[in-house]
Amino acid sequence: MWKILILVSIAAVSAEPRAFHGEKVFRVFPQDSSHVEVIKSLAENAKLDFWSPDSPDLVQAGKTADFRAESHVSLDVQALLEQSEIPYEIIIDNLQEALEKQRDSNIRAVHSYEKYNDLDTINAWSANIAAQNPGLVSRSQLGTSYEGRPLYLLKVGKSGTNKRAIFIDCGFHAREWVSPAFCQWFVKEAVNSYGVDSQFTNLLNNLDFYVLPVLNVDGYVYTWTTSRMWRKTRSVNKNTSCIGTDPNRNFNAGWCTVGASNRACDDTYCGATPESERETKALADFIRANVGRIKAYLTVHSYSQMLLFPYSYSYSLARDHTELNNVAKGAVSALTALYGTKYTYGPGGTTIYLAAGGSDDWAYDAGVKYSFTFELRDTGRYGFALPESQIKPTCEETLLAVKYIANHVMNNS
Ligand code: ARG
Ligand code: ZN
Repeated sequence: MWKILILVSIAAVSAEPRAFHGEKVFRVFPQDSSHVEVIKSLAENAKLDFWSPDSPDLVQAGKTADFRAESHVSLDVQALLEQSEIPYEIIIDNLQEALEKQRDSNIRAVHSYEKYNDLDTINAWSANIAAQNPGLVSRSQLGTSYEGRPLYLLKVGKSGTNKRAIFIDCGFHAREWVSPAFCQWFVKEAVNSYGVDSQFTNLLNNLDFYVLPVLNVDGYVYTWTTSRMWRKTRSVNKNTSCIGTDPNRNFNAGWCTVGASNRACDDTYCGATPESERETKALADFIRANVGRIKAYLTVHSYSQMLLFPYSYSYSLARDHTELNNVAKGAVSALTALYGTKYTYGPGGTTIYLAAGGSDDWAYDAGVKYSFTFELRDTGRYGFALPESQIKPTCEETLLAVKYIANHVMNNS
């Protein structure tokens, strides 16, 4: 009796994050609408966690879909796929193992650009890099999260008057860990390149870069402490115990019309109202207040290796479609030139799927012409469990695309 009590209390105090032993990630290749229907009903019954696309509603015949199945349903899922003759492969056989391999070590006190850093480490880093580079980097607070955490914003650029700006954010979706790693990498490169590399120096003389390393801070903390596969914010919803809103379905751009869910328990929940989340409201307020200066909006997600631009809430072409398409093409070819990483690009609706309420579409309609969503590495071999060894090459290649876009903005806005 005593032993049991002691064990229970230890378990409660040490608060180990949720484990993923025996959980599998499947990739399916639905050939027709009957396959799609099987996958959708399976999604409900087996509580599948969709990795790509983000929701079972977005599964289409002829396009692959990746999802995580919990260990107790894995065999049944596999049997049903076999029985329905849906082509599939198992891309991750044991998610727990993949996650353990994702980070080189669990002991991490110091910040590293080639590691995944927790929020405290990222916040200490941003304070430090601003303090060390007073003429180039400054830190302010964009707002506060639902759980009361500060949303720190870095401004990177040589001081000047009436400078145009590019806004870059990372960490919308909590489990997309390589995204915040890119924002940190970008700031490091800016600092190290100023006065050394003429191209980057030129950009920093002419433009300000606003860098938000983690938008969804509460969700990000939750992926470190409690459940690695969390996506949404951590706000409490009315009349349900389900937590969180998808921040990239929460903007006022065709809000909740397509590719988003109005059910609070879903991973693509659009929220009670547009900008219901403190985090999205803070971002939108900042862009509204500075819209005359902000010429580009770049939002960094993972995974699938894509560069997307408006629209995602409908199939209509953006007014600036031809130019945006050319910029995306140039950015992707700069990125691919480094390591041969293949990217697709185009309007979100046709390239990935229709999904309303995204920050890219909202920023574009608010007047920020150069609005892009990056979906970084990989294409599903590791998915969200991308190993730390890929942080450096991912960030290096992505930086080339961002610099390409920034040059275009500098010369054309
Ligand atoms: N994977 C991203 C998401 O679903 C893609 C965003 C593309 N843009 C959009 N407005 N849906 O959030
Ligand atoms: Zn995302």
